[in-house]
Amino acid sequence: MKCLVIGGGAREHVIASVLLGDPEVESVVVAPGNAGIASLVHCVPIDVTDAQAIGELATELDVDLVVVGPEVPLMAGAADALIARGIPCFGPTREAALIEGSKAFCKEMMAEAGIPTAMALVCVNTSEAEIALGAFGAPYVVKDDGLAAGKGVVVTSDRSEALEHAQSCFAAGGTVVIEEFLDGPEVSLFGISDGTTVIPLQPAQDFKRVGEGDEGPNTGGMGAYSPLPWLEESVVGEVTERVLQPMLDALKRRGTPFVGVLYAGLAMTRRGIRVIEFNARFGDPETQVVLSRLATPLGGLLLAAATGQLESFAQLRWVPGFAVNVVIAAQGYPANPLLGSAISGCENVELEPNTSVFHGGTARVDGELVTSGGRVLSVTAHAPTLSQARERAYAGVVQIEIDGSHFRPDIAQKACATDS
Ligand code: AMP
Ligand code: GLY
Repeated sequence: MKCLVIGGGAREHVIASVLLGDPEVESVVVAPGNAGIASLVHCVPIDVTDAQAIGELATELDVDLVVVGPEVPLMAGAADALIARGIPCFGPTREAALIEGSKAFCKEMMAEAGIPTAMALVCVNTSEAEIALGAFGAPYVVKDDGLAAGKGVVVTSDRSEALEHAQSCFAAGGTVVIEEFLDGPEVSLFGISDGTTVIPLQPAQDFKRVGEGDEGPNTGGMGAYSPLPWLEESVVGEVTERVLQPMLDALKRRGTPFVGVLYAGLAMTRRGIRVIEFNARFGDPETQVVLSRLATPLGGLLLAAATGQLESFAQLRWVPGFAVNVVIAAQGYPANPLLGSAISGCENVELEPNTSVFHGGTARVDGELVTSGGRVLSVTAHAPTLSQARERAYAGVVQIEIDGSHFRPDIAQKACATDS
């Protein structure tokens, strides 16, 4: 099987390397990729917002499967362009990807499907926002309706900060969703879907805030671990039944079946499971800790999803133990990441047992590895226990040097107390 992966972050680095481990996969090309991915497979430059160019590349390479990593090409219609050419695509059409592309649409679909989520109001101007903030009270949750790379959400107890965020979205011509605050630990669960059937992967936890102790602004994710020793096993089945399958059924009824990763971001509140958001793709950095533990060959799974054959797919197998991923972010991330800073020490970390360095935002300039994005590297380690995996990941992180870079020192820390 020949595969093309679209994207250029650490998630695509993982997807490419796990696909290469599938004996049925004879080649993987990534477009556009990055410096780390280029040391693994052939990379081709591409504008990921150009769906036709993605279709043309897939035809030219004569691939059997395209895996679309990020949300941007999905919202640009990459899957639609591939389907029109008869090329199997793992990733939803533009219409189905709207569950991520529009928070207001996602809320509507959840209401229709009876999926438990935070109460919310869609607001188009300041007076509506003021009413909504008053209705839900503090802490305030204000979300930009459109795609914002995980950075469009403000959660704050400061009413004026909440209102300012809403006003900056209105000023940019957008709408906002203001909603009830959900308390409790977060869980990310990915469902592999062929439009009708969904197969859940193992759950992960992501750390969204930039700073230690969940301080500071939201990011795309600063680290993750999987599986979750504190989560009851029955939760995956419950989420599949009450969240993933109803959303899949609702999208199918609407005439826009969802093929790809149905990603449920959940809060485990005292009143039960609530959906914080849906995404239409693998999460980053959760993918680093989930797919790297998948023992079932990935190419076969994703092709079965892309061609509507999941119903008869065998039960997934997993590598035992735990994985922890720590993101090293560029100076200034998330507001203004500094690009072009020199990176050193990666090679040594890659030599460590059960440790991988997945590249998120790296490039080669005159042969030197430099930062080219906010989340530069994802150091991922595996071990029989969560504490050991965590120690290994940080032992790798501290060997890497990038001027002014930062990472969270507390990824998976609390969960280690419940490690089995
Ligand atoms: P989203 O882009 O909707 O996933 O939001 C990003 C992050 O903001 C989530 O992972 C949560 O940490 C936080 N968040 C979003 N909605 C809520 C909510 N209703 N209550 C509490 N935290 C939230
Ligand atoms: N890690 C969160 C996301 O991928 O949206």
